[in-house]
Amino acid sequence: MSTINKDRVAWLQGPSAKCEPVPPASDFPFRLVLLGAPGVGKGTQAELLTARLGACHLSTGDVFRAAGKTPECEQSPAMKEALGYMHRGELVPDSTVWEMVRERSGCLRCAGGFILDGFPRTLGQAESLRRLMQEEGLSLTAVVNYDLPAPEIVARLSGRRTCEKCKAVYHVTERPPKCAGKCDRCDGKLFQREDDRPESIKVRLEAYEKSTAPLISFYEKLGLLLPIAALGTPEEILERTEPALELCRTRRWAQLRWAAVENHSS
Ligand code: AP5
Repeated sequence: MSTINKDRVAWLQGPSAKCEPVPPASDFPFRLVLLGAPGVGKGTQAELLTARLGACHLSTGDVFRAAGKTPECEQSPAMKEALGYMHRGELVPDSTVWEMVRERSGCLRCAGGFILDGFPRTLGQAESLRRLMQEEGLSLTAVVNYDLPAPEIVARLSGRRTCEKCKAVYHVTERPPKCAGKCDRCDGKLFQREDDRPESIKVRLEAYEKSTAPLISFYEKLGLLLPIAALGTPEEILERTEPALELCRTRRWAQLRWAAVENHSS
């Protein structure tokens, strides 16, 4: 687990930070987007998938939260503005999000692969990502879309607790820590996210329906969508996801091989 946390440092600490150690290269790395409403369990699944697949977990929400921990005098005006949107539960403007992702485009080229959690979240962001990946000669392996009924989502969000040190995620009833209020991994203090208050949850769910849900048909048309039911324990969801992902990887690999053969013979 410690290696995984180290791998994410570069993404969280800014464009000039380097991963230590560099993730090992994979012959056919997984390049995934995780889609789904707030609280569906994307972060929880990203952690489990990272441990299984070796690809890095890149969360735009985590980057904004990490920036919020820096002293106010060190925050850029754009970042201060972004934190305001976030606390209200609204989406951060595309231009700010894109600037932050583009600065870290080295992570998208990483030979170990990536798992994008919370990005893209609008059609504009999805188009920007598609163009950047095309320019870099990269392609997504799959877009995993987690689906869960709304009452379950609200229950997951209102019971979430996060470690202020290592960012491990718990739930007061579903995944409680061994000792109340303390992280099992690092003994850090657990806190409730500001945007998990009922008034912010409502705004976030509305923003999801309006701006992010249209990405489902966007990626379906590109043949990348992998729908996964998000009911059950995190481990059950992972068991459901892994074989489906392996199938996607084999299919993408065959498509790329075929395109290479066609290019060679034309
Ligand atoms: P972000 O941090 O991305 O939040 P989110 O998408 O709203 O997702 P969450 O982190 O709330 O939930 P999750 O799906 O990861 O669920 P989790 O695994 O924690 O973004 C926050 C804000 O930043 C946005 O609102 C926006 O302002 C801004 N932002 C970020 N990216 C942006 C972008 N690209 N564009 C614009 N703005 C952006 O699980 C939730 C709870 O459920 C936990 O307690 C967990 O323990 C529990 N749980 C998980 N799985 C299960 C299970 N199977 N059974 C029972 N409990 C479970």
